[in-house]
Parts: sequence; C-alpha cells; structure tokens
Amino acid sequence: MNLLVVNSEKFAATAADHIEAVVQSKAKVNICFPTGDTPKGVYLELERRVRHGMLSLKNVRGFGLDEWGELKDDNPIRCSSRIRNDLYNRVDIEEYYYVNPQAFDMAEECKEYERLIQTKGGLHLSMLGIGLNGHVGFNEPGSRVDSRTRVVKLDDTTKRVSEKYGWKQKQPIWGVTLGVGTLLESEKVLILANGRHKAQIVQKAIEDPVTPFVPVSLLRDHRNVTFLLDTEAAFLL
Ligand code: PGA
Repeated sequence: MNLLVVNSEKFAATAADHIEAVVQSKAKVNICFPTGDTPKGVYLELERRVRHGMLSLKNVRGFGLDEWGELKDDNPIRCSSRIRNDLYNRVDIEEYYYVNPQAFDMAEECKEYERLIQTKGGLHLSMLGIGLNGHVGFNEPGSRVDSRTRVVKLDDTTKRVSEKYGWKQKQPIWGVTLGVGTLLESEKVLILANGRHKAQIVQKAIEDPVTPFVPVSLLRDHRNVTFLLDTEAAFLL
C-alpha cells in the first residue's frame, strides 16, 4: 500500500499526475471514475490540462463506479449526469459507460456491465473516494471482499449524505455499484480523501485491522493501491 500525503493545494494536481501516467502508459485505457465532492478539483485539473493541450483523454474509456437507483436517465442527480457535467463534457473523452439502474432485469444488467469491462480488457485504474461510513462506491459496511457489481441497499449514513446531491423530498433506498472484488481486479487503485471531516474514517481505513465493516480497508490488500490524502484528511494518522 502506498500512502501519499500532500497539502490541499497539491491534492488535485497529484491525483491528475497519477491519472496522466496511466493514460500515457497504454494505447487504450479503462478508468473507473467516481462522483462526489472529493474528485471535483481533480476533474477541473484534468480539464485544464486538456484545454491547454497538455493532455488528451481520447484514448480513455470511462466506467461509472456506482449509481443511485430509482432515478430516470435525465435526472441531474444521477451519477452518470454528474460525471458528464464534471468531466466527460469538458474533456475529449469519447467512450464511456454506466450501469443502467432502470434496466428491467438488474441482475442481468450488473452481469452485463462486468462482462463489458472484461471484454474491453479490464480496468487499468480505479479512482475512488471514501464515504463517511468507509464505503467505496456503494459498497456499504458489511460488503464482501469478493463482491461483484450488484444492487445494494443503502446505509443510513449514505442516505443522510444524499441530501447534498439534491435528494431532498425523499431519501434513496438502493443503488448499484461495482463490487469490492471487481475493484480489486483493477490494475491500479487510487483512493482519494480530502478535508478534516474525513480524518476519522481515513484513520480507520488505514490503521485499524482490515474489516468488511470499513469496506475501503479491504482495498489495502490490493497489489498496487495508493491512498492520496491531503494533510487535513491525514490529520489523525
Ligand atoms: P464525497 O463522497 O467525495 O462527496 O465525500 C465520497 C463517497 O461517498 O464515496
């Protein structure tokens, strides 16, 4: 496990450097991109590099990490809408995929997404945020290390946090996510956390024993995982 702590100003650029290195390492690169507040600065930095001709993401295939259930395709709260707004529409990426939470047969849809990833050559990089409850994607506490892409019941913390994404009238009940086992098969994993509010869960994720009750800790066993933290998120280490 690699641990990298940088000050807040360097956080986005350091993550973007990691992504850039992977993008330039292969003719076609499959990257799993998260949504949420954590990667926003990273996406702005990628956009800046592309706009200035310093980087191209033309050879990147984007794969969505997770998605809320119950929302129609055009809903702006959908992770797919947000990643389009925050990244795909702002750079020169041409190919990207998501799980469809409106599919008639969700079990088949999840299997199909796994097959698609395999057919395209597997994930070369999975970039992940950490939820306040230790989740990655929607792999909520209790998720198995060998879990695959699947429908999940959302944890209370995730439901509470959903308000910041625009869930106001009602709380979400379920979501769909790449599994921990799926993410462990990724060639590289980059886990990001910034801000003092993440310090406690970061400490559990990195220093406490590995446990499914802090799902992100399961990724510590990956052969090429980097935790990139800003000094605020690393405050308790
Ligand atoms: P955040 O969400 O980046 O908005 O903190 C992370 C997560 O819940 O996975």
